[in-house]
Amino acid sequence: MSESTREKVVLAYSGGLDTSVIVKWLQVEKGMDVIAICGNVGQDEKDLSWIKQKALDMGAIASEAVDMREEYAEAIISKAIWANGKYEGIYPLLSALSRPIISKHLVDIAHQYGAKHVAHGCTGKGNDQVRFDASIHALDPTLNIIAPVREWDLATRDSEMAWAEAHGVPVPTTHKKPYSIDDNLWGRAIECGVLEDTWNEPPSDIWTMTKNPEDCPADPETVIIGFEGGLPVSIDGEKMPLLDCIIKANEIAGRNGFGRIDMIEDRVVGIKSRECYECPAALLLIQAHQSLETLCLDAETLKQKAKLDVEWASTVYRGLWFSQNREAIDAYNAYTQKYVTGEVRIKLCKGGLFVDGLHSDYSLYDYNLATYDEGDSFDHSASKGFITIHGLQSKTWSRVQGPGSGLQGA
Ligand code: ARG
Repeated sequence: MSESTREKVVLAYSGGLDTSVIVKWLQVEKGMDVIAICGNVGQDEKDLSWIKQKALDMGAIASEAVDMREEYAEAIISKAIWANGKYEGIYPLLSALSRPIISKHLVDIAHQYGAKHVAHGCTGKGNDQVRFDASIHALDPTLNIIAPVREWDLATRDSEMAWAEAHGVPVPTTHKKPYSIDDNLWGRAIECGVLEDTWNEPPSDIWTMTKNPEDCPADPETVIIGFEGGLPVSIDGEKMPLLDCIIKANEIAGRNGFGRIDMIEDRVVGIKSRECYECPAALLLIQAHQSLETLCLDAETLKQKAKLDVEWASTVYRGLWFSQNREAIDAYNAYTQKYVTGEVRIKLCKGGLFVDGLHSDYSLYDYNLATYDEGDSFDHSASKGFITIHGLQSKTWSRVQGPGSGLQGA
């Protein structure tokens, strides 16, 4: 058989209805040969071989399940821990972080197969399209990106199912899935369905990584996270790679009901959306890291870093992982994290998390300066002159213009 002259497209394939229809649609509507890639980023699905087979059954010329977990942890999540990465101060960016690693593999595989096109199943309303498109083009601007859901006229589920049936794509026999879910090592995102009414309480069946706090043991569980250079390296004294720390932290926090989020989030495209997340490891490790930073970084650096943390999260959320800004902030963090080494003791109980002990050989906490007991080495008499100068501007302002109206009558 002679080699196909059809153009090749590499598709980010999940095995779900949308991307399965896309495998066929790219062949029928675009006349292309499809290479379907399913990235293992630690999602709940343990065995990805059926996904690979499903793509081949629908006529994909090749299909691969690629284990990206270690690289995801080492190259991407590590930077998120350094930056205490949480969008709008709450969401630990699990979807935003996985897209760059998947994009990198899509681009590499496109090069291997000599494909000029890359496709994904994102809608035109979400953030993930922004992340895929921006990442892919940062890595190779010559690749053509195809997002079928943005261009086809199968807007309703019924029309999509009808198209699938007419073209031999297996359709789910069950009812429409009640939620849109994205999950990986760093947590699970649950949106749509009844959650779209902001007054509806999230139904208990949306949670799979975290136990219902009310059903958790009443006795607290204590865990000690060891850090080196700003990254977790051990749990309860047992050394392990970052990937294993994350897997273990998910179990420990999850069984204590810690890690649930219910929030209103501002998407890149200007829409507010209601999102539920469960991110036991992410929230535990970030909290532990941030607490250790308070011991190992000085006040000015903490202040500056807090601003850059916000900027980092916003940059990554908006799809600009591959950017000068993100790399520059990571360079700042590489310096600041040098001495963020030590142990953090955490107590978990019924959905709550409490940091109750910190230790570091590089601690900037000086007992003799801090103590009110014997051994106090702080020069109390030096404060008087310092405060005279420190408060001078307020004194002058108050004499000429103040005191502020807010306190009138107080
Ligand atoms: N709102 C989150 C984000 O933009 C989660 C997106 C999850 N994607 C999904 N297909 N459910 O990062």
